[in-house]
Amino acid sequence: MTRPGISKVPDSTAAFPSEPPGRESAREELIRQETVHEEFVWHDPRWRGRVRRRLLGWFATQARSLPWRDHPTPYHVWVSEIMLQQTQVATVIDYYHRFLAAFPTVVDLAAAPEERLMRLWEGLGYYRRARSMHAAAKLIVERHDGVFPTTFDQVLALPGIGRYTAGAILSISADRRYPVLEGNTQRVYSRWIGLRQDVTTAAAKTTLWDVAGAMLPRTGSGRFNQAAMELGSLVCKPKEPLCHACPVRNDCQAHRLGLQDEIPGKVTRVEYESRNEFGFIVPTRERNVLVQQIPAGQRWAGLWDFPRWTEGDVADAAAAAKSLSHQWGIAIRPTEKWLTIKHAVTRYRITLEVHRAKPIDAATIPTDQPHLQALPIDRLANLPLSTTGRKIARSLVGK
Ligand code: ADE
Repeated sequence: MTRPGISKVPDSTAAFPSEPPGRESAREELIRQETVHEEFVWHDPRWRGRVRRRLLGWFATQARSLPWRDHPTPYHVWVSEIMLQQTQVATVIDYYHRFLAAFPTVVDLAAAPEERLMRLWEGLGYYRRARSMHAAAKLIVERHDGVFPTTFDQVLALPGIGRYTAGAILSISADRRYPVLEGNTQRVYSRWIGLRQDVTTAAAKTTLWDVAGAMLPRTGSGRFNQAAMELGSLVCKPKEPLCHACPVRNDCQAHRLGLQDEIPGKVTRVEYESRNEFGFIVPTRERNVLVQQIPAGQRWAGLWDFPRWTEGDVADAAAAAKSLSHQWGIAIRPTEKWLTIKHAVTRYRITLEVHRAKPIDAATIPTDQPHLQALPIDRLANLPLSTTGRKIARSLVGK
């Protein structure tokens, strides 16, 4: 059986060099011979047993003490896994504590005003996660009397929960035998089995889910899943993995063939694009500023923001103000540059120029609509703002 190779693996059908093999070609020869069969190493129960034992032995001494590991109820695991989906452990810890202090149970979360939830989520980004959690909490109250469901299908049916999160919740909280496959485990398992395929293909995903399932011990699946994710985040890192510190290195196909930098293969790099955006501080009365709630369907929907032009290139702040005036139905004129914030959103590297601006005719500004308000600066502290909106708000109070 032949499989597509990743770019740096020599084509196994290529002609052999006629000169005696040097160091590099000996390695190529080894790779050529191993390409077909070593991806099936995980079919061997002895290999699986060794890898499992070594990983769990390592985890017993190296596991980080993380708050959600103390009392892994389904609710705690759910909150932590959703937060961890796009965010580093070190950042998540404080958010996790604040979230559970505000909403100790799923019933409290269901009853929370969305604005409070968004305020607590502020800075974590990917706000859809929070909105899905809110919707899921309400469903848990409606359909399951406020008790976190216990079957895989019921958990999977909740908004924002896919196969990986459902598996993590049930395995970690209740030791149910479900595998997980997320960024860390995808990398770890690809390297363990020396997977040559592009990991984004459906075929590679199927193989990796099969490996994740086959690796689970009869009991202790939650522990195993956490250990594999922990290995991925502490040792088997995307770049420059710490193979010397890896408990599994002797059984790792990527390490054996020196392919740890090539596997997982073909993860497409993000092509960043530069963009200029303009934001405006529009004082309407003394120490009141204009803020808008971002409409559904736009970036940061539901959060509040300063007037901001984000839609495509404009020459300068005056042009941005003009375009914004059309969109908002209010006319403003920039007066002075206030600050510049550089940040990244998805594939855009954004330079946000923030200007102070004046209403051209203060009487035309509608400040009493639910989504467009003139608020005293100190009221902004309780309003869920975008991360850059918060920076602007802080700059106004000198923090
Ligand atoms: N990354 C995502 N979930 C994790 C977990 N439960 N343990 C360690 N790293 C993780």
